[in-house]
Amino acid sequence: MKRKIISGERLAGELDVSRQALHKQIRLLRKSGYKIEGKPRSGYRLTKNPEILLPEQILSALQTKKIGKKIFHFNSIDSTQNKAKELANHSEPEGTMVVAERQIAGRGRFGSKWISSEGGIWVSLILRPQIAPQQVPLISLIVSLAISDAMEETCKVRCGLKWPNDIVISSKSNVRSLKTKTIKSSSECYKKVCGILTEMSAESERVHWVVLGFGINVNNNLPRHLHRQATTLKDIVGEKVDRVTLLQNILKKIESVYDQFLREGFSMLKNEYVQKSILKKGEPIFISDFSNKTEGKFSDIDEDGSMILLSKDNQPLRFLSGDITLKTKISRHAN
Ligand code: BTN
Repeated sequence: MKRKIISGERLAGELDVSRQALHKQIRLLRKSGYKIEGKPRSGYRLTKNPEILLPEQILSALQTKKIGKKIFHFNSIDSTQNKAKELANHSEPEGTMVVAERQIAGRGRFGSKWISSEGGIWVSLILRPQIAPQQVPLISLIVSLAISDAMEETCKVRCGLKWPNDIVISSKSNVRSLKTKTIKSSSECYKKVCGILTEMSAESERVHWVVLGFGINVNNNLPRHLHRQATTLKDIVGEKVDRVTLLQNILKKIESVYDQFLREGFSMLKNEYVQKSILKKGEPIFISDFSNKTEGKFSDIDEDGSMILLSKDNQPLRFLSGDITLKTKISRHAN
């Protein structure tokens, strides 16, 4: 869409500022990445928005009541989780969002490192749900559903959920045959595109806050060593993705599933989760939780969000958390 040229006189008049103050603001906007053409005796034209997740841009078309309504934006930060936890301890309200263009100490589950360079979506949200602490892990499950829906609608891609809270995209991997030295595009595998991390502060019966972090590989470049297990939306779609629109849609979907979850619990959302899960009944998997690695067949996701595995001797085993490896379509947990 080609925007109109607006005269400096009109802009200054509408904003009720002097021409000098207007020039100063335009200089500042250009500094933050807006491309503004300035034509003598004619006016100004905005030709390009900055490629950053500016709060004003996000808020301009955000259709939520609470989620993302207060935004703390950073060009660079250690981890949005740390900042959001600090803000939660200082009584910032539910829905407050911390977003960064890059993180230098991004964290994943099980203490792993989360590589977060420019171009991704690195977000932490403060939630204050009135639920029992044992129900908090369900929030990651329902949020993975919301994020994958928003990614499918906005980017026209097909996503799968890998319990408990990874979003993956199926991609055909290029298999190099050692004998013939040819490359066959055949075996399907899942690559991670988004990971979710929830941290909380609670007493035995009461949750003070939950900090829900999600990292999405969007337009960022992944280091080579992650190419086998992770991908970006840009690579799947074939072009850069509009991060502002994607984030606005994600926040809207999160609010909707979160409200439904608080009203009705997980049972209504469970079917949707299972349908989108890449784990199908009988699928051979390994699950690692801290020091143990267990082999078995996937059986079900329970109402409390736990995963039920059928062990080698057909015993149902229940896991509240863990990292799954599919025996056939390998995908590991890094980003
Ligand atoms: C995982 O899959 O291991 C979870 C990754 C969570 C990464 C996000 S990025 C925003 C927020 N800040 C962090 O340091 N981690 C989460």
